Parts: sequence; structure tokens; C-alpha cells
Amino acid sequence: MDFKSQFPIYLKNKNKNFLYLDSASTTLKHHSVVSKLEDYYSNYSANIHRSVYPIAVKATNEFEKSRIKVSNFINSKSEEIIFTKNATEAINLVAYSWGLSNLKKNDIILISKMEHHSNIVPWQFVAKKTGCTLKYIPILDDGTLDMEIFDTLLTSKVKLISLIHQSNVLGIINPIEKIIKKAHQNDVLVMIDAAQSISHMEIDVKKLDCDFLVFSGHKMFGPTGVGVLYGKYDLLDNMEPFLYGGQMIDKVGEQDSTWNNLPLKFEAGTPIIGEVIALGDSIDFIQSLGFDKIKTHLRSIIKAYLNILNKFEDIIIYGKNKNQGPVISFNIKNIHAYDFCQIMGQHNISLRAGNHCAQPLLNHFGTSSTIRISFHIYNTLDEINYFEEKLKETINLLS
Ligand code: ALA
Repeated sequence: MDFKSQFPIYLKNKNKNFLYLDSASTTLKHHSVVSKLEDYYSNYSANIHRSVYPIAVKATNEFEKSRIKVSNFINSKSEEIIFTKNATEAINLVAYSWGLSNLKKNDIILISKMEHHSNIVPWQFVAKKTGCTLKYIPILDDGTLDMEIFDTLLTSKVKLISLIHQSNVLGIINPIEKIIKKAHQNDVLVMIDAAQSISHMEIDVKKLDCDFLVFSGHKMFGPTGVGVLYGKYDLLDNMEPFLYGGQMIDKVGEQDSTWNNLPLKFEAGTPIIGEVIALGDSIDFIQSLGFDKIKTHLRSIIKAYLNILNKFEDIIIYGKNKNQGPVISFNIKNIHAYDFCQIMGQHNISLRAGNHCAQPLLNHFGTSSTIRISFHIYNTLDEINYFEEKLKETINLLS
């Protein structure tokens, strides 16, 4: 299977050994997404939810069609889908609107040691503001969550668990079904950060029964600037707005205002119209492939890269685990991750070096940076020889 022809960036980089291995950072953009953005900005770039002239009606319809696609994709009601600018903003929305009003001294927010900073820092803020405590589920040496300690942490004081579905550093997929079940037995709400998993794993919020779930368009072949918050209707309905302004109101008096219904209560101001519309096309693309095909393809790629990395004694792979998404993190003894990625970059191989916005996790492994390779559907087995050749060359050069 070769999907490269469907991604315009490959056509522009033909014959250049362009090897993109940074999909956990952002995926490449599918041609239907790029065309839809151009179509909106060229042909009907009106504002939405306000006017009755034809291009405004078309823009509004296309925007709301995307909301329905997103809700069908994760099996929610369409009113439970809030468009934000990214997953980070969606987490902040819950932190401000739910966290600040519902948490108090002695309450506990539980997150894990493998969270992205976007699922740590907002809770530090809420903890400081409300006096509640932020606790961490530790991880074991293989990078998986310590579920025994999790059981002991899950007391009646815990009010919210906010957890990454798939680690953006290790690729490890957390047992969220089990965690949600246990949490609900203790009346604890659960928010899932699905930014890394949404493009390669089926997510059904009804089956999962999570209370909130967030993800970003740009990690699913879609545009940057658009994220999604799913929340259970009653929870969202009882929350205060996050941002205040036009469109999120019902009536505005001189001193007081009342709020619009869901989902508009949480979508103040002119939204990211073209990007939301184009997000619908990335969902169409994923659904046209189907998750079985995506998973089979990614599994073969992960296996092939692990086979190569395992050949090198000086390569340390972090969090090797069977239940792994398309991400591998490693270091090479005595070679700095940034130096390695810079030289690989000169060979047109795109890798990420750094802490991957997960400093507590990297501290656990006693390192401040790793080299990360991450894949998606456009990566192919025939790229691997080039990777191996340049990997050897770069290690020899830097050793
Ligand atoms: N969260 C993105 C990453 O892991 C940016 O690279």
C-alpha cells in the first residue's frame, strides 16, 4: 500500500528521499483537506451562524456538517462536540470551566507520569487556585502505568482522572477502558487525551463511557488550528462558559447576560471556519481506509523499525511494549539526540529530538531528551533501507 500520492507534500518532494518520521508531532495533510481549505477560502469564505445570504448559508451548513461527522466518528451527540483551536485548549476549557468551579481543598486530580505538558500544567494551575491536590499514577520500568498503585490512589477524594490514551513519547497505549470503569465505580470523572490515538484507533465515547475526550485535527491528516472537546451533555450543560463574547450568548443586558445552548455556549467569537470544514475531509479519509487497514499497516512499520534499532547495541529504546502505537523513542549512547536529528535532517529524514513536552516522563527515565520516530499511513517498508543506511552513517560520524 502506498498512499504517498494522496499527500501533496510528497509530490513536491519527489526524488528527494523525503522521509517523514514525525507524525506524532503533526501528520502530513491529505489532499482532500488542502483542497477543502482552498475551496472555502476561495469560494465561500463568509462568516457562519449569522447571515442568510447564500455563501454564509453554505459556510454554516458545511461547518455544521463537520460537527456531525466528528460526532458520528466518535459516536456522540453533535451538541457534545465543541470546536477549540487544539487539544490543549480543549483541556484548558475543562480545567477552567469544570475544574475551577467543582474542585476544592482536599479534592484530588489524578494524572499520570506520562502526560504531555498540556495535561499537566492546566491542572497545576487549577490545584493552586482551588487548593486541591495533583497526584500522579507512576509508571513501571517498561513504561506502562503502575496499576497496583493506581488502585491505591483511587480514593473517594479523587474527583477527576485526566489521562493520555497513547503516550506521545513511548507509544504505549493505556488501558483506559479498565481505568474508566474503576473510576466510575468510585464516582470519579475521566477525561481522555486522545490526540495521539484518534487517527489509528476506533474511539466510541458511548462504549468507553469517558466523561470528556480531546483531540486535534492536525494529528489526523487535518488542518492545524482546530481541536475538539467531547463532553457528556449534562456535564457541559452545567459548566460555565470558558471564553466570553459573540455567539456564545442568548441575551445581553447592560450588566448581565445569559448563555446560548450547547455547543455554541463554548464557541465564542468567529470560529476557525475553514479548518473545521476541512477536518470533515480528514475524517472521511480515515473512514475510507478503516481502522483495521491502518492498524495492520502501522504494525508492520513499527516492527520493521524496531528490528533495525534492535540491531544496535548502543541504542536504548524506551518503553518497549506490545501494546504500542506508531511511536518509538530511543537514545544512542554518547550521542546527543539533537546532533543525531540534525544530521539525519540533512539527509531529509524528519525526526524529533527533545523532551516531547513530557519532562516528568523523561525524568523517570533519567534523560532530558530522546530521539523520536513516529509513523503514519504514508510511511512504507521500502523507506526503511534508506533510514538504516543513514542511521549507520550518522552514528559512525558522531561516534
Ligand atoms: N504533542 C506533539 C508531540 O508530541 C507536538 O510532538
